[in-house]
Amino acid sequence: MIKLGINIDHVATLRNARGEMHPDPYLAAKLVNKYGADSITIHLREDRRHIRDADVVKICKDKKLTVNLEMAANFKMLNIALRNKPEFVCLVPEKRKEVTTEGGLNLIKNKSKLMKIIHILNKEKIRTSLFIDPTINNIKISKELNSNCIELHTGKLAGLVKQKKIFINELNKIKKCAKYAFKTGLEVHAGHGMDYKTAKILNSIKEIKEFNIGHFIVGESFFYGIKTVIKKFKKILNN
Ligand code: PXP
Repeated sequence: MIKLGINIDHVATLRNARGEMHPDPYLAAKLVNKYGADSITIHLREDRRHIRDADVVKICKDKKLTVNLEMAANFKMLNIALRNKPEFVCLVPEKRKEVTTEGGLNLIKNKSKLMKIIHILNKEKIRTSLFIDPTINNIKISKELNSNCIELHTGKLAGLVKQKKIFINELNKIKKCAKYAFKTGLEVHAGHGMDYKTAKILNSIKEIKEFNIGHFIVGESFFYGIKTVIKKFKKILNN
């Protein structure tokens, strides 16, 4: 079974737009779990633009949920993860002014810090993942860093598909990296910018075991309802 992680950050974006309590990301987490999400992704950004500390506490406390906490690779965030004990942590780069996570981690620049953070998370039995651009060098370093998983950034591919541009080179890059990573023993995930079309395209890469999808699912659910949207993704991914 290919796993579907659902990112509910944008439920929090909507809530924050009014500065009130509705819609509640915790209720969204419970709902996507009920309708078949294999994990719930929440990205606690340093600027707290969507998910907030109180959401992390509430969502991680519910042990019926499998939580994937996305966070910047620093010790302040690490302490939050250690306090809340999500099942998974995905380390991502963060730039204050970006609209979303625009690229993968710079593993070379952050190597020693990442090594320390991964070591601590591994010791706590929290599954670790590194969000990276699809290059063989990134996979080699991820392996050296002892991460359990890598998540390949699919944003570029998704952009090309949406603009109806040629995407075969980018797809081949992702395929090559997924196969290489799988061979080295890393669990391979993928995500960013995905919709039904990119899910169908990427599903041809059998080494990818988990997809993390957020914005499209939240938006599409407005039209068709979350239950229908999750069902459709699960059908595509397990075809
Ligand atoms: N995976 C990672 C590591 C991300 O940072 C994000 C965006 O927060 C996603 C997946 C989901 O991307 P999208 O919301 O575009 O589906």
